[in-house]
Amino acid sequence: MKNHVVINADIEKAKINKNIYGHFAEHLGRGIYEGIWVGEDSSIPNTNGIRNDVLAALKNLNIPVLRWPGGCFADEYHWKDGIGPRENRKRMINTHWGGVVENNHFGTHEFMMLCEMLETEPYICGNVGSGTVQEMSEWVEYMTFDGESPMANLRKENGREEPWKLTYFGVGNENWGCGGNMRPEYYADLYRRYQTYVRNYGDNRIYKIAGGANVDDYNWTEVLMKNAARMMDGLSLHYYTIPGEFWTGKGSATDFPESEWFITLKKALHMDTLITKHSTIMDKYDPEKRIGMIIDEWGTWFDPEPGTNPGFLYQQNTIRDALVAGLHFNVFHEHADRVQMANIAQTINVLQAMILTEGEKMILTPTYHVFDMFKVHHDATLLAVDGQFGQYELDGESLPQTSVSASKDANGNIHISLCNLDHQNAAEMEVDLRGINLEAASISGTILTAGEMNAHNTFEQPENVKPAEFTEVKADGQSLSVTLPPMSVVVLAVK
Ligand code: AHR
Repeated sequence: MKNHVVINADIEKAKINKNIYGHFAEHLGRGIYEGIWVGEDSSIPNTNGIRNDVLAALKNLNIPVLRWPGGCFADEYHWKDGIGPRENRKRMINTHWGGVVENNHFGTHEFMMLCEMLETEPYICGNVGSGTVQEMSEWVEYMTFDGESPMANLRKENGREEPWKLTYFGVGNENWGCGGNMRPEYYADLYRRYQTYVRNYGDNRIYKIAGGANVDDYNWTEVLMKNAARMMDGLSLHYYTIPGEFWTGKGSATDFPESEWFITLKKALHMDTLITKHSTIMDKYDPEKRIGMIIDEWGTWFDPEPGTNPGFLYQQNTIRDALVAGLHFNVFHEHADRVQMANIAQTINVLQAMILTEGEKMILTPTYHVFDMFKVHHDATLLAVDGQFGQYELDGESLPQTSVSASKDANGNIHISLCNLDHQNAAEMEVDLRGINLEAASISGTILTAGEMNAHNTFEQPENVKPAEFTEVKADGQSLSVTLPPMSVVVLAVK
């Protein structure tokens, strides 16, 4: 069956918060150290210790928000270990991730400097699991208090006169698991207590994010909303796309049969169900949708690359990951009225990364290219899309063959993102564009595709998978005829 889509350019829905294109960088494996921070004395070209190649590549993505320092690391992190002269900073063990030495050289000042260089908003995750209320409260004072106070004075002694602007603050991470193994009732009470001391100093206004549910733990969302809704601005949700079982083999990132291609995309689409069901619970307590759903960890999680430290979560990234990213964005767009932020796990060298590094070499992954192509949706207005979709079938199961989303930017330009999930068949698509004069418009497109399900970039062949101009689109009256090759992500611009 042909895919037939109607896009209503004159039916505008919610604004797509650019923060759904956010990132997450944890002290995990080679994410921060090597991936971002090499130190000022490194032979790798850097600016104040941050490697230049990575900086330039990330700047190009216009990252709106960056979450740090974890993850599970956040609930073991004591921020005072990461300030002051670097040579004096405490060397600790990163017990959660690989048992390696953490020298704390990348701390609050370095993170804030990175955010300033990237022109991105910091999103700091505080320690509830093993930290005190005082410690969390003092961290906020250290970062944001302008004037005379013990923590502001300490910040100045460490070389930073002006406070930083800090909007997003997470009160703990995965407190149902690595963040303290708490019951939701207990965490809801702790959340209420800790957030009380996350203060707004001067003009700084903090958007407080409560630690949310794991996947389909709807009771967690229910209990948090019932007991703490009025004290939060956002509630998080974590969901990873894993083709196998979580603890006993997730599947290889590059060596997989077509059944794993299919199940991976099916599981990626499960995000839609999760958002819908968690939103329904949030609606009960917050029908105005004041509280944002913050999906601050998402992405693929495969077995670590053979030969690497399993605690470092280093995995390759293929055209399959690109499809997972494209599908997630299209789903997030559809829920733009509730989903206010999402942070892919993780930016560099960890899980579904944008960038992989090896010594001084750096490559961009297929996921990077999807983030780049979808930049046009940042802060654009979601348009109403209806459709009849063909089916993608394998071994008696089926999925919609394609996924579509459309938005209108501030200049009135329309962008349509399209994914063909099918690994074998092209998708023929007819797109009716209502509400604009298509005959007077110019149409262009970009495609990311590959000939093999596991196509990826390597340090030897860094451009195996890269965007190209898309030409398989023809306008006929008010319709576009589009042919999407198998395994492709396309973004069309109608101007
Ligand atoms: O992203 C890796 C880990 O996954 C994070 O540290 C944790 O929050 C989640 O379980």
